[in-house]
Amino acid sequence: MYKTHTCGELGTTHIGQEVTLAGWVHRHRDHGGVLFVDLRDRFGIVQVVLDPDQLNNQFKTAEQIRSEWVIQINGVVRERPAGAENPNMSTGMIEVSATNLEVLNASKALPFVINNEETVDENIRLKYRYLDLRKERMLNNLTIRHRFISFIRRFLDEKDFLEIETPILFKTTPEGARDYLVPSRVYPGQFYALPQSPQQLKQMLMVGGIERYFQIARCFRDEDQRGDRQPEFTQLDMEMSFINREDIMSLVEEMFTKFVQQHLPNKKLLQTPWPRLSYQESLDRFGKDNPDIRFDLELVNILDIATDSGFKVFDTAVENGLHVRGINAKGLGNYSRKQIDELNAFAISHKAKGLAYLALTDEGEQRSSFAKHMKPEKLQELLKRMDAQKGDLLLFVADKPAITYEVLGRLRVEIADTLNLRDDSILAFCWVIDFPYVMWNENEKRWDPSHHLFTMPMEEDLHMLETEPEKVRGQQYDLVLNNNEVAGGSIRIHKRDIQEKVFKLIGLDPEVSQERFGHMLEAFEYGTPPHGGIAPGIDRLCMLFCDEANIRDVIAFPKNQSARDVMGDAPSPVTPEQLLELHIQTIEEEKKKE
Ligand code: AMO
Ligand code: AMP
Repeated sequence: MYKTHTCGELGTTHIGQEVTLAGWVHRHRDHGGVLFVDLRDRFGIVQVVLDPDQLNNQFKTAEQIRSEWVIQINGVVRERPAGAENPNMSTGMIEVSATNLEVLNASKALPFVINNEETVDENIRLKYRYLDLRKERMLNNLTIRHRFISFIRRFLDEKDFLEIETPILFKTTPEGARDYLVPSRVYPGQFYALPQSPQQLKQMLMVGGIERYFQIARCFRDEDQRGDRQPEFTQLDMEMSFINREDIMSLVEEMFTKFVQQHLPNKKLLQTPWPRLSYQESLDRFGKDNPDIRFDLELVNILDIATDSGFKVFDTAVENGLHVRGINAKGLGNYSRKQIDELNAFAISHKAKGLAYLALTDEGEQRSSFAKHMKPEKLQELLKRMDAQKGDLLLFVADKPAITYEVLGRLRVEIADTLNLRDDSILAFCWVIDFPYVMWNENEKRWDPSHHLFTMPMEEDLHMLETEPEKVRGQQYDLVLNNNEVAGGSIRIHKRDIQEKVFKLIGLDPEVSQERFGHMLEAFEYGTPPHGGIAPGIDRLCMLFCDEANIRDVIAFPKNQSARDVMGDAPSPVTPEQLLELHIQTIEEEKKKE
């Protein structure tokens, strides 16, 4: 037996007991001939005293040990001498006096230290991820992730869900990203696509009569990387038959509310039941469809006041049918010219043409880029509408709706960060519903589904699908948590004729839709039940549960910002023989030949 106890479990009840421990040297220091080692394993840290009087000729070995060596000791648990207790450590009242020491393995000098939270370049952390994982922060994150997943399994098992695996090698399932393709050796020139989600297969499971399915599913999407995106990530993928939107939303709400209440003692839910916002309300109030509702600073529509206001920027915007909206950055009225210029630059970097401002200092002095141009009665109306008080900073954007929302939505979050309004201990879940069914893709000149092409339009809007698609709403719902979209789902189309109409609307050629989705269209003709589902992103949820700013920190072996695995060094070249077997010739090879 390597150990009788874990390092973390020892306490005053063990005083006098003989124990065997094994773990890593977290810290070591020499106190005038006696060595003190903080010994660490996954379960905690305990102080071990290495005394020459106890260890005799083993003491020479003791003097050689360094940080992160793996050692085993036998020893006796004893009370720490008065004054030497450490109330910050769970084992801080005791220490283990070693009677025997064995070095199980040595360690080279480390590329970074494990025993403190200094900032280390992320690529170094990822290259030596096996060392990074030894840090308390990473262990905590992986522990919370494990608890979350095991809670989900228990919860859904009790609700009669079946956990079913679906294939990784399948064909394209569009979720708006590029596919990762896998060439077939057996079928020259043909490829599998890794699933962007198990969307089609979970629907096939509903046709198969499963009724309640879930999977902790790996998804693969080749898209631009961001802090909340990974090329491969994990969803809690769910699908149910004979349900409506309400059933799915309340199930997810119950599941995550219970998890937070039972397993995250440091977190508070802002509100239960979770608020619901229509897509339009979410844009109008927060400028985005993934709002942070922990703080106010809401957008204010001032189009009526901006009409015939005397300020040319506003007047022209109104004449051109644009939006004019503002926010009141409460408490930033004393911002310097330079600070306001920075906000202006931020707005312009997100495509605004400018950022009109009006600042009221604490003394009530007014500074503004536009007030002098505005009709006095309009200015008074504006101050009233914006609820302007001394010390406030009013910011306005006049632009196309999308830009107005985006810029003010981002400014709102930016300003909340400045004002420290984004309290990490609060989890503010909300549902966003009533999305437009399709959005116009200006580049491609076509309608794109705003969720995915298997989503059912609202029944009462179906008649407009061919004539006024922009007015159709989808039966979809997003779950949002603190400025992040953490889940998306919908009620699905389960009839062939509607699915075909949707394929047509988004411009899929009938031949292409048959080739890609023929199996689904066919399945819909064999008694497909009404069904729907949702897929919460496990990584994003864990990121917020763990107070991390990046999903890489809740994934054991993530890709870096440039989608590389820097530890294993992937992707990497393969041998010409492997390529030949796969019937593949690379452009690089061609170039070499030329
Ligand atoms: P959707 O595409 O909205 O829906 O994805 C669901 C959730 O998955 C998470 N997510 C990601 N997390 C990390 N990295 C990524 N690249 C990434 N992309 C998405 C988000 C998102 O809310 N099949 C549908 C679900 C359904 O309709 O049931 C789907 O995949 O948290
Ligand atoms: P100008 O008259 O162009 O000097 O602009 C006066 C103020 O209006 C400046 O603070 C500009 O940043 C701001 N501004 C210009 N265009 C816009 C716009 N589209 N929306 C909001 N503010 C703007």
